Amino acid sequence: MNKEERIYEPMSDIVAQGREAVMHTYSQFPVAFVSGHGRTLVDADGKEYLDFVAGIAVNALGYGDESLSAALKRVIDGGLLHCSNLYWNPYAVSAARLLKQASGMDKVFFCNSGAEANEAALKLARKFGHLDGGHRTGIITMEHSFHGRTYGAITATGQDKYHKDFDPLLPRIKYAAFNDFSSVLAQVDDDTCAIMVEPIQGEGGIIPADPEFLRALRTLCDERNLLLMFDEVQCGMGRSGQPFAWQTYGVKPDVMTLAKALAGGVPAGAMVACGIAADILQPGDHAATFGGNLLAMSGACVMLERLLDGGLCDHVRAVSAYFIKALHGLQSKYPAIAVDVRGRGLMLGVQLTVPPRIVVDAAMERGLLVASAGYDVLRFVPPLTVTTAEVDQAMSILDDVFSTLVPDEK
Ligand SMILES: Cc1ncc(COP(=O)(O)O)c(C=O)c1O
Repeated sequence: MNKEERIYEPMSDIVAQGREAVMHTYSQFPVAFVSGHGRTLVDADGKEYLDFVAGIAVNALGYGDESLSAALKRVIDGGLLHCSNLYWNPYAVSAARLLKQASGMDKVFFCNSGAEANEAALKLARKFGHLDGGHRTGIITMEHSFHGRTYGAITATGQDKYHKDFDPLLPRIKYAAFNDFSSVLAQVDDDTCAIMVEPIQGEGGIIPADPEFLRALRTLCDERNLLLMFDEVQCGMGRSGQPFAWQTYGVKPDVMTLAKALAGGVPAGAMVACGIAADILQPGDHAATFGGNLLAMSGACVMLERLLDGGLCDHVRAVSAYFIKALHGLQSKYPAIAVDVRGRGLMLGVQLTVPPRIVVDAAMERGLLVASAGYDVLRFVPPLTVTTAEVDQAMSILDDVFSTLVPDEK
């Protein structure tokens, strides 16, 4: 590629210039990615990496997916990327209809990110609490949860480290212990209007909800007239092996939030609601300029069609079974390093006795991208199109990394 065609600098320059110009809100690895194919990413110096991070559960169709690229190009070629929500656009309407079909829920609000979707859900919950002249404002969320970085979303996030130095937070949000129904019961009072929970906690360390816990929450919400709201930003859109993780539990929420993989990599978020919750927000209550824009929604239609034809979810379940078995194999070979394997579908984690960052760095060095979650979990959220051969490749790199950590166990 000659200088004219190249739109980026050599990698060391990108990193150095980034450190000068970009606010230091991330601990970034000194790598810049410029292209991808399949499940492989290419950095600015041409090195290839097998990607088991997928932009943290975003790039569900991998890189260079033909139908996604074609759909996005069609919108670009039409010249209209965005039109105001003063008007309808066919892509948003189709995406909403596909979401209804995939979820059996009733109505959709589109936005641009997970935090934004959760803000919408928190507002909807508060308005629900004001119905019929009421004034219920309390929302219960879970310890170790993660719901995003805006004010409502950090308040809903049950981890002190995200609150530090940002008080005062949103009032009347309380935290219960995840998977501990008695802890939730202890927090419910006459002020409570909603419970928000991730069916599989992601940032908290890949912790699936116990089925009985979600069932008990559903019953409680029905009995006490509370909204049950599932944050499926990370675990939704096929990652669990079903379009939405709650479908693997058979526990349907009143409100579900989505983002990340919703549009296959184009920024998009959604709040989906059913029953009474679907008609609470009225004109003037909520809005997002870019929500439902044509480009993102054309991506969402491709993603949702892939989920609905069943093939993608079948593939996730098959590769997941293979992957989990391989991780158990690694765990039994290195019991001093890997102490637990957990998760569902292609949202998997291995709890480590060593800092995950050591493994993440060593794997990256060897051409494999993996991430951490919580403080001691190695997280795998690859593109949903990942193959068993690529799982083998990742496992052999991790085997090599683990062997350097405890050489005498090999
Ligand atoms: C469960 C969950 N909710 C919300 C968010 C926030 O999403 P966003 O970064 O798009 O605002 C995340 C991001 O990691 C998440 O995992």
